[in-house]
Amino acid sequence: MTTTLPPYSMLTVTQYSKRSRHSVRELLSRNFYTHVHLDWHESDQWMESEKAIIRLAWLNGNLVGMMALSEPLNNTCWIRLAAVLDHTDTNQVMRALWQDVESDLRQRGVQKVAILMIRDWAIPLLEPMGFRFEEEIVTLRRAERIAPDAPQLPDSISIRPTRGDDVQAMAVVDHNAFEPPWQMAIGDIHQAERIAANATVAFQNIDGVNRVVGYQISTLYFDGAHLARLAVDPLVQNQGVASALVSEMLRYFNRRGVYVVTVNTQATNTVSQHLYRKFAFYPNGYDLPVWVKDLA
Ligand SMILES: CC(C)(COP(=O)(O)OP(=O)(O)OC[C@H]1O[C@@H](n2cnc3c(N)ncnc32)[C@H](O)[C@@H]1OP(=O)(O)O)[C@@H](O)C(=O)NCCC(=O)NCCS
Repeated sequence: MTTTLPPYSMLTVTQYSKRSRHSVRELLSRNFYTHVHLDWHESDQWMESEKAIIRLAWLNGNLVGMMALSEPLNNTCWIRLAAVLDHTDTNQVMRALWQDVESDLRQRGVQKVAILMIRDWAIPLLEPMGFRFEEEIVTLRRAERIAPDAPQLPDSISIRPTRGDDVQAMAVVDHNAFEPPWQMAIGDIHQAERIAANATVAFQNIDGVNRVVGYQISTLYFDGAHLARLAVDPLVQNQGVASALVSEMLRYFNRRGVYVVTVNTQATNTVSQHLYRKFAFYPNGYDLPVWVKDLA
């Protein structure tokens, strides 16, 4: 039997509008070809709160695809959502979406686009469009009933739970510590802090003025806790600040009977891997590749 494909020259790409919210939700939840990498948000909430770049692909009035990217941060952004309707030409739909998105990104001066390949289906589609493998994200897991003692910090540095008004200072630390595309937007830090089970900042007191110099955010999930974010300002690195934040977080969960803690980090991040190894975090084999496209 031969299948006649619909005329894909009729494919149109539009901007997202709230009117299509229901169709997008259906597309993302009912089809095989989906990519969802939102970390802290639900898709509806994210699309409406973010200054995201969102495109919809239509064929004969039916929604057949969508692609959404985070607001560019330091000239980089992430593909956060993508979906193609089952039984349509995945390649054509993704190409049409990407073509439209790419020209918008170039106009905004974006130089790098990244995607966490949570599932493999997009690789053969994105590779011909110029995406290449960048690096692996590894997952490390700790399952210990003993919480380590907190190391001695310099006298000027202490740790306390976060407050809502720390978010701006946390974002500064984050952007000093991480390179693009790994920096987190302030809205994401705010949301992560809001839903965290344990979030702490390290602050330094110099001449009576307190300055946030590090932070960690951890969440709870069905099987344990997850260290979702850890960053220390380069000015105070290698003084035990991250070790103190991690050990206090482990002690917090230990007191509540939560003994399994996971964390993700870049395979190339030797400092963080050294740190996590010291606290008995070991690879659990759940690694995910990051692919990128350079637009510069
Ligand atoms: C990873 C990070 C949080 C560590 O913060 P920190 O306050 O400097 O950490 P600590 O001082 O507690 O410990 C650093 C450890 O790394 C070791 N280290 C430093 N440079 C290293 C290197 N190039 N290779 C291997 N180990 C290194 C230090 O000796 C120390 O280990 P030790 O306690 O056994 O002596 C900080 O470097 C950072 O913010 N990096 C960017 C963001 C990041 O990678 N976050 C975590 C990954 S998601």
